[in-house]
Amino acid sequence: MSSIDTILQKDVLDRESILRLIAVRDPEQIELIRSAANRTLLENCGNKVFYRGLVEFSNVCISDCYYCGIRKSNHGVNRYTLSEQDILEAAQWCAEQGYGSLVLQSGERTDRTFTDLVERVVKKIKECTVSPKLPDGLGITLCIGEQEPEVYRRLFAAGAHRYLLRVETTNPQLFRSIHPPQQTLESRVRCLEILKQIGFQVGTGVMIGLPGQTLEHLVDDLLFFRDRDIDMVGMGPYIVHSDTEMKQYKVSVEAQRDEILTRSLLMIALCRLVLKDVNIAATTALQTIKENGRELGLDFGANVIMPQLTPLEVRKDYLLYEDKPCVDENREQCRGCLERRIRSVGREVGFDQWGDSLHFRKKVNGPGRS
Ligand code: 5AD
Repeated sequence: MSSIDTILQKDVLDRESILRLIAVRDPEQIELIRSAANRTLLENCGNKVFYRGLVEFSNVCISDCYYCGIRKSNHGVNRYTLSEQDILEAAQWCAEQGYGSLVLQSGERTDRTFTDLVERVVKKIKECTVSPKLPDGLGITLCIGEQEPEVYRRLFAAGAHRYLLRVETTNPQLFRSIHPPQQTLESRVRCLEILKQIGFQVGTGVMIGLPGQTLEHLVDDLLFFRDRDIDMVGMGPYIVHSDTEMKQYKVSVEAQRDEILTRSLLMIALCRLVLKDVNIAATTALQTIKENGRELGLDFGANVIMPQLTPLEVRKDYLLYEDKPCVDENREQCRGCLERRIRSVGREVGFDQWGDSLHFRKKVNGPGRS
């Protein structure tokens, strides 16, 4: 059997090698994986960390995912939708700070009032954020769930150019165990295909530490990202919310915190080693299970961070999971704190740029012209 060292020297990792690496628990060997991922990151993407200002503009949701705190059956949630003006104000602030991109995230809704609001807001953000530093306005990522192809087309035409839709897990049985029957993995995968055909930079991701999830499942998730030619990845630990269908797992999931953190960091590192030039986010959920979780994420190969821009008044109503950090920090505090965290791990912030996925750019421009 080859050593971890030998495996890390290969340029292309097969399933068996990835499985060996994700099972590593010896700290020295984990460090070898981390430093290999870091090298791959620097070689393929450089030292910069890109910001995506996060606006959680509505927590109204028609879906009922068993793990999620804002699922429609949770009647304890105070539901809100920000006004167009509030969203535009956040976008303008984002552009002024030099955060080159914005993420508009919400619960899932498919009614025309909602999709019209998003379309209108996207158009206006593009108009109001054009400046000498951002000649094409802010980069816009949408994260508003499964929609009809026609809606995706309208939103792309309006000026959104990235779309995030997590598959949560690529294992059909595990997917079924965390969603109601009308939500299917096939439908999510179909959406990802359509988004790609339309021309979006497409992001997906999974939760790590789901009850019943094995290391094999996680390796298959990485291979799915590779084989589906995904441009951006956002993954994070599963954290139990007490007002959900899966609350019975609270004690067992919390007892495995360290293991889930290790798995999450190894998933980032292996994603970097396997996919190389994609954008990978150091997600807020990482910071929930470990104070310096996001910095660790950067150290293991992530290159994107999402500073909070959701107005403080509603932030506590957008709790997908419990103990979400930064719910009482305003956006200025958030800005200073993040920059310190990024510098603490020897990285730089990529201000005033979209920070597009190089993987996507190479597909569009051809190799060597990123
Ligand atoms: N723990 C961790 N992540 C969660 N998400 C939703 N609920 C939870 C939870 N309890 C993630 C899902 C979703 C994204 C917006 O938030 O992956 O796609």
